[in-house]
Amino acid sequence: MAKKEYFSDIHRAQWKTRMGFILASIGSAVGLGNIWRFSYLTYESGGGAFLIPYFIALAVVGIPLLILEFGLGHRQKGSAPKSFYKISPAWEWLGWWAIIFVMFGIVMYYGVVIAWALNYVFYSLTQAWGADTNTFFYNTFLGITSGPGVLGYIRPQILFGLFAVWVMNWIIVFFGVEKGIERANKILMPLLLLLTLVLVVWSLSLEGARVGLTQYLSPDFSALLNPRVWAAAFSQIFFTLSLGFGIMVAYASYLPKETDITKNALIISLADCFFAFIAGFAVWGTLGYMSVASGVPVSEVASESLGLAFVVYPQAISMMPAFARTFGVIFFSILVFAGLSSSISILEAFTSGVMDKFHLRRKPLVSVLCLVGFLGGLIFTTGGGLFWLDIVDHFLTNYGLISVGILQCLVIGWYFKAGKLREHINNVSDMKIGVWWDFSVKFITPIILVAILISSISQEFSAPYGNYPVTWIIFIGRDWLLATLIASIIVAGAKWRKKNGTYK
Ligand code: PHE
Repeated sequence: MAKKEYFSDIHRAQWKTRMGFILASIGSAVGLGNIWRFSYLTYESGGGAFLIPYFIALAVVGIPLLILEFGLGHRQKGSAPKSFYKISPAWEWLGWWAIIFVMFGIVMYYGVVIAWALNYVFYSLTQAWGADTNTFFYNTFLGITSGPGVLGYIRPQILFGLFAVWVMNWIIVFFGVEKGIERANKILMPLLLLLTLVLVVWSLSLEGARVGLTQYLSPDFSALLNPRVWAAAFSQIFFTLSLGFGIMVAYASYLPKETDITKNALIISLADCFFAFIAGFAVWGTLGYMSVASGVPVSEVASESLGLAFVVYPQAISMMPAFARTFGVIFFSILVFAGLSSSISILEAFTSGVMDKFHLRRKPLVSVLCLVGFLGGLIFTTGGGLFWLDIVDHFLTNYGLISVGILQCLVIGWYFKAGKLREHINNVSDMKIGVWWDFSVKFITPIILVAILISSISQEFSAPYGNYPVTWIIFIGRDWLLATLIASIIVAGAKWRKKNGTYK
């Protein structure tokens, strides 16, 4: 068996405990997306009624796909590229594509948002944003320019923040799966939960919190007739469970032989959604307080996603009756911790892919990757960075993640055969999955995802995204995604390196 030499698994890293794996996966899933994106979507898409498509999306697509990614990584004992290569060398590129556009795209701007939050932890101490938090965020802090074509210059404070973020990523992933990632999550996750609970209780005790909660949870069932609400629920589930990122595949490859894939997937996905749900109480409780204190209706204090965290929240913090500083520090620290535990997960997924194929050593590799991640993020720290961030995010999440999701289902469901993977999953899990799972992977999930993809594409043609100039949308969004696709095909074409350093 010639393949043995390339795939020796003896030295593969392993989680020390099952809890470590669960916490690390929750760390990846719970991120910036859970806190402001979920809260805002819920509000915008029919209040409590949004929970219906959200939980349906979780059950129909989220849980089956998470089981698929865990099952794949565990069975193949490999990162996404290696797992797909073992299915067929013709599909190796798919594994690379996921980790390349996330590493050289999503995490580059994601790190910048964490850097903003880090700055805001310190701004909370002096309430540096003053009375007009909107002008402060967009003009003073971001130095926003007139459009994506005008970059302006790099904002020093964001640059420092970004540097700090990548140093933290580096320190954690440098020490590997068990000593770095597992250990960091064992500290970060309990801390995150504690801080969130403090914030939830605190927000609910504020006068007027109930007004916000009514808005958050009061169901408007007519929203369920809108297909966009359904599409929003499905893409949110994708993003929040880190599906299509190649992360869960890599994380599951570090599990021991005996493990319970199905139960782990259930625990992780439910914990992630539960976290989003309770974080919503803190966000909306605070908005209710603000609305009552200022006499402005909740619908007017709420704003689009990023504005919610960096414009509205600072305003609410300044209005706090007591301990405003502490409140601010807690809120922005939650964003930083949640963001970091997600960004290290993709760094690991990429590192794992390169180590599997080229057998490079972890420490130098991680060091170079962090430097590249930092440098790549620079474009988003400029005055025009927010526009770039917005466009890249739109294309990579709506097209990249969804396409990987579709192809993953088709390759596993039809080419590899869903039944074969299910057999492996059931062999190692106490909790068994039935043929419904094959059906979901082969038909339901891909059909739903294709429908979402088609509707997104048709929207693209009806109006340019965000009203940006079309040439910039094409250059920044579409071409960014295409470049990562080409890169993945090239990397997949390279030869697998043997352990002793020679090439195949
Ligand atoms: N699940 C993460 C979130 O909700 C998404 C993510 C994972 C982003 C890893 C970047 C890296 O924020």
